[in-house]
Amino acid sequence: MPRDITLLWAFRSPCSFKCPHCYFGELEEHKKALPQGLGLGVLSHIPLNDLDWTVMARFAETLADSPVERVIIAGGEPLDWMPTLPLIKRIKQAGCQVVIATNGVPLTRAGIAERLVDYGVDGISVSLDSADAIINDELRPSRSGRVGYNEVLAGIRTLLDARGSGPGPRVGIYTVVMRNRPQEITDVARLASDLGVDYYVPQPISLAPDHKLFDEKCHTAEDVPAVEEQLRRLQADPNGLALPDPTYMRQFVASITSQDSGRVSDCFGGAQLFFVQPDGSLWDCPSDRRIAATPASAQRSIVGADARTLFDGRPACTDCSHFSRDCVNMGPLVLGMPRLLAQEAT
Ligand SMILES: C[S@@+](CC[C@H](N)C(=O)[O-])C[C@H]1O[C@@H](n2cnc3c(N)ncnc32)[C@H](O)[C@@H]1O
Repeated sequence: MPRDITLLWAFRSPCSFKCPHCYFGELEEHKKALPQGLGLGVLSHIPLNDLDWTVMARFAETLADSPVERVIIAGGEPLDWMPTLPLIKRIKQAGCQVVIATNGVPLTRAGIAERLVDYGVDGISVSLDSADAIINDELRPSRSGRVGYNEVLAGIRTLLDARGSGPGPRVGIYTVVMRNRPQEITDVARLASDLGVDYYVPQPISLAPDHKLFDEKCHTAEDVPAVEEQLRRLQADPNGLALPDPTYMRQFVASITSQDSGRVSDCFGGAQLFFVQPDGSLWDCPSDRRIAATPASAQRSIVGADARTLFDGRPACTDCSHFSRDCVNMGPLVLGMPRLLAQEAT
């Protein structure tokens, strides 16, 4: 049985940030009215059905000898929840590669970075959407208003210090690129390099066409030359950072050249990639379009499941007709991760 599955596992719903473009939607809006389809692929920062950690631990223990090669732990914010650390330990003990997606602030808390180093976590991807403190904190505001850019940078420095000259974890920055800020592609790369970060992934913002920020933030064909120029400069001078490969850069441009549509005939979603929601629901892929198209009979859960048999019968690849910008963002998590985590920048 090949060990080649990446599980993108959203551990928790809550987050101390309130990014208006977040896949999880806006807490204040959801407090007024819960979104339709909650628990059926629709995400919210309201933790209505988030799993108990003992249920998650039981599933994590079955990852040993399963086809799951890598677990990307995200959310919500995974590192604000204390059981995340013992769960990471179990997933590592099960022999999986572990990468954590975080807003970076929890890394400043005493002992967190050291424990992630001790557990042998393979990668930590920190989100930062601008090299400019004020702009970043407008794009990624914290709920309290008391933490932001400076604490994120402090978290990255704490982690790099805790790692010292050891091999891991590799530390990366992820930037959501919005149509009015193409320059962040190279500006954040320079900052990442100055900080001593190992890898960098600029990714296109992905919003549903009816999202209130769609027109303001989502790229159109008009934005292609500016984005292309920034990606060209980044590849010409990666500042010593590991970057996604040139195919990814081409997909980034292709995805913003036309409206979301199209077929991916050799998709890894449902073959090498699966998505787990905080309530344990298991989907082929986190794409809202693909989830919406999943028949009720195909809905599954990790609750009470055994990872050694849960993926039996999966196809070598799937034929998906729900291409969106989000598909571009999945590449670095699955096929591109070895390159990002490599000890030497390529
Ligand atoms: C949802 S967050 C969860 C992990 C963690 N709390 C964090 O802030 O990184 C995971 C990643 O998704 C990105 N993201 C959120 N909404 C997005 C969107 N609409 N389009 C593209 N990326 C998005 C975030 O910027 C972050 O890099």
